[in-house]
Amino acid sequence: MKTIEHFVKRRSRFASAMRCGVAIIPTAPEQLRNRDAHYPYRFDSYFYYLTGFKEPEAVLVIVAEPEKQSDRHILFCRDKDPEREIWDGYRYGPDLAKAEFGFDECYSVTQLDDKLPEFLANKEIIYSALGHSAKWDQRIAGWLNQVRLQGRSGVTVPCGIQDYRTVLDEMRLIKDDGELRTMRRAADISVQAHCKAMQVTCPDRYEYEIEAELLYTFHRNGAQYPAYTSIVAGGANACILHYIDNNAQLKSGDLLLIDAGCELDGYASDITRTFPVNGCFSAAQKDIYQLVLAAQLSAIDQVKPGNAWDAPHLAALQVLARGFIDLGLCHGSIDAVLETEDYKRFYMHRTGHWLGMDVHDVGEYKQHGEWRKLSSGMTLTVEPGCYIRPAENVPQHFWNIGVRIEDDVLVTPNGNELLTAAAPKTVTEIEELMQ
Ligand code: GLY
Ligand code: MN
Ligand code: MN
Repeated sequence: MKTIEHFVKRRSRFASAMRCGVAIIPTAPEQLRNRDAHYPYRFDSYFYYLTGFKEPEAVLVIVAEPEKQSDRHILFCRDKDPEREIWDGYRYGPDLAKAEFGFDECYSVTQLDDKLPEFLANKEIIYSALGHSAKWDQRIAGWLNQVRLQGRSGVTVPCGIQDYRTVLDEMRLIKDDGELRTMRRAADISVQAHCKAMQVTCPDRYEYEIEAELLYTFHRNGAQYPAYTSIVAGGANACILHYIDNNAQLKSGDLLLIDAGCELDGYASDITRTFPVNGCFSAAQKDIYQLVLAAQLSAIDQVKPGNAWDAPHLAALQVLARGFIDLGLCHGSIDAVLETEDYKRFYMHRTGHWLGMDVHDVGEYKQHGEWRKLSSGMTLTVEPGCYIRPAENVPQHFWNIGVRIEDDVLVTPNGNELLTAAAPKTVTEIEELMQ
């Protein structure tokens, strides 16, 4: 299927879930970083999911009239502007955008205030991301007021607002073939970056040098951005869960934890690997590493259709609790360690999240109060860890060891597919690559 057809099909699926109404889905605004310098532009995920259109200052409008079996897909975008295009680059403009992206109608974004009251007249409901942007909430209220002014000529006003995210989150949770193709490529690029990082790491280099290698590999393979700020954490820094300073010197005898993934064409990957700076795990590091790996493999085994969302987390906890007791980090029975949550001294986060356009992707984790069931086409991470800060009641040989192992997993009809399987993960694989 051609890429554009995936977007048209998604719009039609979304429209078929709409009542008689109008969905207004703007892309993200450009953001100033400082003075007149902007952050690199990143479109809104919902907007891109339905359009494939990457320019800023664009709005998707879908007008659904189920009783007429009609849905119109309308794009508002920037006009062509030869003068601005000299400075900022190419713009499609409405005519070309209509042809290239499969819309029924396209208009200049400057016509939005004229057109929207016309579209909203005599419709029942507006679909909007209520509360996401005060500016857009206000604009929509203004258009509604304009429609209301036409009341005496018989025009009716939409009487409800529904959040389009409720429908789109469920759609985005199940990835289609086009999305999976992109996610596999994103995963492959991130795997390459982690391999490169292992190969170039050695004592005395700085965390930022390794980060630079990751970013270089992302970009030279066509990925536009890191999907999130890379964590490159040597030694004790690995015990800071969101460490992003990445400015310390690496020491022989320490581990290096790297949590990094690229974003390719709007889709994230998210990999963590932990390996010894000097290429050889010490005995204590190996104990913790093998434990986290066993927990991760046990969790991945639980990723299959019909299993509850938290089955992988519960499986990881069983393995970790047993291991913490065996290594003298926790005391008592497995049940007691789980019941009192004593394990949280060393494992304080959950075992994964949905993965997709957003690294922590959309989709409810519970339905009707119960963890939702996994089904084919869902993509998630599996990422147990163990972080041991110095403390009196903790054996000293484990102090400052932080390990996390994270892979990206697709739920398949019969089990799962590990999208990031090619990143070395066993002690032997890692030590061999680092030689
Ligand atoms: N890198 C973000 C996460 O692992 O959740
Ligand atoms: Mn993650
Ligand atoms: Mn991660």
